[in-house]
Amino acid sequence: MKYQKLFAGRIGGESFGRGESLYKFEKIKRARREAETVCPERPIIDLGIGEPDQGADPAVVEVLQKAAGDPANRGYTDNGIPGFQQAAAGYMHQVFGAAGLDPEAEVAHGIGSKSILALLPQAFINPGDAMLTTVPGYPIAAAQTKALGGEILPLPLKQENGYLPDLSLYSDTELARVKLLYINYPNNPTGAVATREFYQRVVEFARRHSLVVISDEAYAALVYDGEKPLSFMSVDGAKDVSVSVQSLSKAFNMTGWRLAFAAGNAQVIKAFREVKDQYDSGQFAAIQHAGIYCLAHPEITQAAVRKYSRRLDLLVDTLNYLGFEAVKPKGTFYLYVKVPKAVSSGERFTSAEEFSLHLLHRHGVSTVPWDDAGAYVRLSVTWTGEDEEVIGTLRERLHGEPFIF
Ligand SMILES: Cc1ncc(COP(=O)(O)O)c(C=O)c1O
Repeated sequence: MKYQKLFAGRIGGESFGRGESLYKFEKIKRARREAETVCPERPIIDLGIGEPDQGADPAVVEVLQKAAGDPANRGYTDNGIPGFQQAAAGYMHQVFGAAGLDPEAEVAHGIGSKSILALLPQAFINPGDAMLTTVPGYPIAAAQTKALGGEILPLPLKQENGYLPDLSLYSDTELARVKLLYINYPNNPTGAVATREFYQRVVEFARRHSLVVISDEAYAALVYDGEKPLSFMSVDGAKDVSVSVQSLSKAFNMTGWRLAFAAGNAQVIKAFREVKDQYDSGQFAAIQHAGIYCLAHPEITQAAVRKYSRRLDLLVDTLNYLGFEAVKPKGTFYLYVKVPKAVSSGERFTSAEEFSLHLLHRHGVSTVPWDDAGAYVRLSVTWTGEDEEVIGTLRERLHGEPFIF
């Protein structure tokens, strides 16, 4: 192949495209296509999707439509329009009680939080530096850190600790190389939320070890049953040591729109802007105007919160009826459950991936497996279709097969 020798090491060098190892979500997509081909008359119940099943609020779409036709919005926005930064600072105050963010110096927009998480390590990581990161989790910041020659020190999230990491896992010598700590609450995939007390410990830890906390808050507004939305920025001293990365994707059903922001420490924001300038020229101003409308209407999120909460109740009941030990998460739209050891027909599972493939091929149910800290599957309540029908079909398909834990 003509260019095989030219590929960079960070994408596999000469072996690029030749390995067996596939990105997990690509593997799931392929398995799903295979299951559909083998059994076309049985529609897949898709509990594997990580994005909302509905579109943006009609009022938001209307703002976009108007703004898209305004010639003033046509150009590059570089590091964003001031109105969006002001709206973001207002939102952080209104929803999370994080007062006093300076829109100019302490807020920056991004083309989705994935992009912000990919760019932040570029501002800090030299070869040989390290990043602490919770696992299982959203892998982007860690992947970029590795691509830059950095090392990942994993912080496993365990059920017995409420899926909060043990910050005493590494020695001071190991921590001396750490520049970044990535945390994500409400957490994908466990659905756990952080406590204020935990966040306070993180602030102290970051101070003691002179590191920057990247708090990924993509699901921050999606919390249930009286839980109050909490940002790392809501905690005293957090702004000295961190940035919170907020996204409009999940809170406002805008995954495809690509709009997010980072808010926090001015030096970190400045460095992020510097890097970002090299990679993109800002999100379309019309989308930022639509974002301004959203951020001033946080009640839009509440309709989604009610729906996900109801669906999570239904799913938890169903799984518990089937023998799982499912507990409703306090946040996100994910339910994270331990996989069974076997099914009564004899098939045994040594990993979450095996169990997930069993659910897919045997029952036409798609889930996401996680094997990083115990074997679990993640089920998302962002299915399309009537709740009663989806849940009824799920019960019907699974109830004939007792699971052994
Ligand atoms: C934990 C977490 N962070 C960040 C993102 C990225 O979201 P976006 O780039 O749409 O803002 C996702 C998307 O699934 C996520 O699960």
